[in-house]
Amino acid sequence: MVARGDRLYHGNTCVGCHGSNAEGTPLGPDLTKGKWLWGDGSLAAISRTITEGVANPKEHTGVMPPMGARSSLHPKSRHSPRISRR
Ligand code: HEC
Repeated sequence: MVARGDRLYHGNTCVGCHGSNAEGTPLGPDLTKGKWLWGDGSLAAISRTITEGVANPKEHTGVMPPMGARSSLHPKSRHSPRISRR
């Protein structure tokens, strides 16, 4: 689970805005310090942020695309083995 998340994070555009250690850049916030701008840091809140993206950031200049703009993360994608309905 963690390894898969790591692969997803680094193989994805997340790095560009949140930094390779998830410690943040001017474009996107630090995800490691336990301080959350969107929601309470619960899995549910974080999942919602990642699913919906952040169109109007509070403190950063990047605009976070839903699912990191990666189509294979999209629930309707046929390439996602985890959520495919088949
Ligand atoms: C184009 C830049 C960009 C990309 C790409 C991006 N993010 Fe973000 N992310 C942001 C911004 C901007 C915010 C909101 C910051 C604010 O409101 O000031 C944010 C917020 C978040 C939050 C909520 C942080 C909080 O404090 O509540 C999480 C979790 C998150 N991103 C995870 C991810 C993950 C995982 C990916 C890859 C799938 C990703 N982001 C890709 C820019 C980005």
